[in-house]
Amino acid sequence: MKILIQGGRVLDPANGIDQVQDVLINDGLIEAVGTHLKAEGAQIYDAAGQIVAPGFVDIHVHLRDPGYEYKEDIASGTRAAARGGFTSVACMPNSNPINDNKSVTCYIRKRAAEAGFANVFPVGSITKGLKGDCLSEMGDLKDAGCIGFSDDGHPVSSPELMRRALEYAKTFDVPIITHAEELELVGNGVMNEGDVSTQLGLQGIPWVAEDSATARDIMLAEFTGGRLHVAHVSTAGSVELIRQAKARGVRVTAEAAPHHFTLTDEAVRGYDTNAKMNPPLRLQSDVEAVIAGLADGALDAIATDHAPHHIDEKNVEFAIALNGIVGLETSLPLTLRLVEQGRLSLMRAVELLSAGPCKALGIPRGTLSPGQVADLVIFDPTIEWTVTEERLVSKSKNTPFMGWTMKGAALRTYLAGNLVLPA
Ligand code: DOR
Ligand code: ZN
Repeated sequence: MKILIQGGRVLDPANGIDQVQDVLINDGLIEAVGTHLKAEGAQIYDAAGQIVAPGFVDIHVHLRDPGYEYKEDIASGTRAAARGGFTSVACMPNSNPINDNKSVTCYIRKRAAEAGFANVFPVGSITKGLKGDCLSEMGDLKDAGCIGFSDDGHPVSSPELMRRALEYAKTFDVPIITHAEELELVGNGVMNEGDVSTQLGLQGIPWVAEDSATARDIMLAEFTGGRLHVAHVSTAGSVELIRQAKARGVRVTAEAAPHHFTLTDEAVRGYDTNAKMNPPLRLQSDVEAVIAGLADGALDAIATDHAPHHIDEKNVEFAIALNGIVGLETSLPLTLRLVEQGRLSLMRAVELLSAGPCKALGIPRGTLSPGQVADLVIFDPTIEWTVTEERLVSKSKNTPFMGWTMKGAALRTYLAGNLVLPA
């Protein structure tokens, strides 16, 4: 089947395109991008005034399936992805059972294919059972379809094991995704350490807990020549460490989450457990540094760390509430805020949601080049909508942005040429 998307503003950062053009899809592939395209019998979509871009790619989500389907499952999570304009996600291994063996990887891929809302690229665990003491069967996991390895949610505390993980993953040319956190410095901390934690009487997590771990893993990447990807960067110091490492040629990439470039620890006042995540919300100076890193290339991708939790896991005392917030449906408008504030160009914003994450993890998507799979999004950056429980299609509603007016929404999401939004 042919689909002709006419007259939209086509933004394809990988090819440096920002022009009003047509996009022709044929049999699930991009056939052509250009002006005045014609196609016999094609279905026509008039995209005038709208933006046509590669489908967004979120390289850090928790789909909670298998094992925690009361929070989210592969169908509901990928439906939320399509709603947010995402056509691909990479899902973290902390399911139950953990994705440390190929039967779990195969299950995830099968369920994702059945649901058909988005591509799911599984991330396998670095260590068996996320226990931090012995490496998973990375070769098996890679063969089964894992695109990288992470113990996300937990750091790999042993530097020796991290060294071996980087060396081993290097032989497969896949990245190790680090959850950079020095647990002895985190202690019993539940939010950022600073004036706000002192005033609230909550135990703090100092920035050095993140920076020291980021520094260690950068050095191990430098030493081994392995590929390192730093997950959810939240501190000014980590951004700078990554920037410097890149400048001296270390194979390191990194991502930041919308909440870390939008909110500070002030959001925790009122003990809002929907402002509790790991790493925690930091200071305005950290927010500024993360935004600068996104703009200048120290950071490669925007990734949500979509972490659904049931209301019963959040409706508790701050100190015992689970970490994490949902993010797939609010990532685009929060990113567009940076464009409106003049901090990012629209081109760079789209790059951080498509080509950037693909390059970081080696995902074969993120461009509108002819011959590529027709994963694309059509969005309107001016549409305003309010975040409500009813509007979110994710099973969980844990977001600090509840009630916020968002600007910008995906209108249409195509997965291999199939319309998945509106479904
Ligand atoms: O906030 C978080 N939630 N951070 C993590 O590292 C893990 C995640 C989760 O799985 O809930
Ligand atoms: Zn995570």
